[in-house]
Amino acid sequence: MPLAVNRRDMIKGSAAAMALAWANFSLAGGSAAPGIPVPFLDPLPVPADRPMLSLDQLPAWTTPLPDFFAVNHYGAATIDAAQWRLEVTGLVKRPKSFSLEDLKSRHHAEITATLECSGNGSAKTFMGAVGNARWGGAPLGRLLKECGLKSQGIEVVFFGADEKTEKIKGHDYLQNFGRSLSVTDALRDKILLAYEMNGKPLEPKHGFPLRLIVPGWYGIAWVKWLKRIEIRDRRFMGRFMARDYVTIRGEERPDGMVWRETSVTRLNVKSIVAAAMRRPNGTVTISGMAWSDGTPLRSVELKIDEGPWLPARIDHSQHSQYAWSFWNYEWQNPSAGEHTLVSRATDAKGTIQPSADDPLIKLKKTYYEANEQYPRKIRI
Ligand code: MTE
Repeated sequence: MPLAVNRRDMIKGSAAAMALAWANFSLAGGSAAPGIPVPFLDPLPVPADRPMLSLDQLPAWTTPLPDFFAVNHYGAATIDAAQWRLEVTGLVKRPKSFSLEDLKSRHHAEITATLECSGNGSAKTFMGAVGNARWGGAPLGRLLKECGLKSQGIEVVFFGADEKTEKIKGHDYLQNFGRSLSVTDALRDKILLAYEMNGKPLEPKHGFPLRLIVPGWYGIAWVKWLKRIEIRDRRFMGRFMARDYVTIRGEERPDGMVWRETSVTRLNVKSIVAAAMRRPNGTVTISGMAWSDGTPLRSVELKIDEGPWLPARIDHSQHSQYAWSFWNYEWQNPSAGEHTLVSRATDAKGTIQPSADDPLIKLKKTYYEANEQYPRKIRI
């Protein structure tokens, strides 16, 4: 039955929906059209005790700071910028110590990139650990070249100022948060030592005064409160590289199961349904976001109930290689009643966002890298 929004629909809506009714919504695609939000029957709770993005409405393309999630393993470090230094040590010809002013006087670059925690999507209460921001700072590669990498160096290790005693095989070790990149990965030109987020100095909880930005990689690699960068000739096997943030996936091979243990690195292609909006002419616009490791998106598709995959329109008006894209689908003449909506993104290499019963997800035994298709329910 085709739908038209009338006064009765408006009265039935929640107070918030009514307040928004007929407002001009800026939708994916840049079009502004009147509409009334159709609430989800399975809302995604936003925890009261921590910042997180609400995915029950299409967020702004650039996430405002109050909505940006934060994840701290050892608690947030408090740093006095006047005393703070960044040490670059290890296998470099010219070890150096930089102040914040030194870094600000170097070449400044900006990138808009989506930061997703690799645990995002692993539980209904942890669905908004993703956000998109404009990051500004000094390109890492130029700084490493300034210090002169020695040829034996294979690994660049980034240490935060936050620390905790870790028990390893029965012994206690006071450790700084640490993650590494291979020299090849660290020299990618988009990697930044960022001191700005959305045009402002980094907030303490997001890593003030300096954090690493690794576009296209999960958040665990984006080390906050940087204090030391060390170039080494051995693989770094710290907790967040080799014990936690390790994905265990089974691969069924003709001669049996092979278990792959891999450190969490590049983002997996992913999309989510984030809003449904009823139009005066009866159409319901479904919209959401999709992102990848920087590989362009080939398509985003929407499935309604048991129907076929339908092509959604990707909004190219707000675009950056490593940022999420908005998408939308105009659902003509939806029938009244309950409906299930699910989206899937495919990248230009042909990698398809898997369903929950795909072996890629079913044989994944750890919760990191939860990029499965996520169905949402609405009632028209
Ligand atoms: N860096 C340090 N020093 N300590 C941390 O606990 N957490 C990581 C990463 N960088 C972390 C860190 C994780 S797991 C994520 S998802 C991102 O920071 C989150 O960044 P945000 O808190 O700015 O959103």
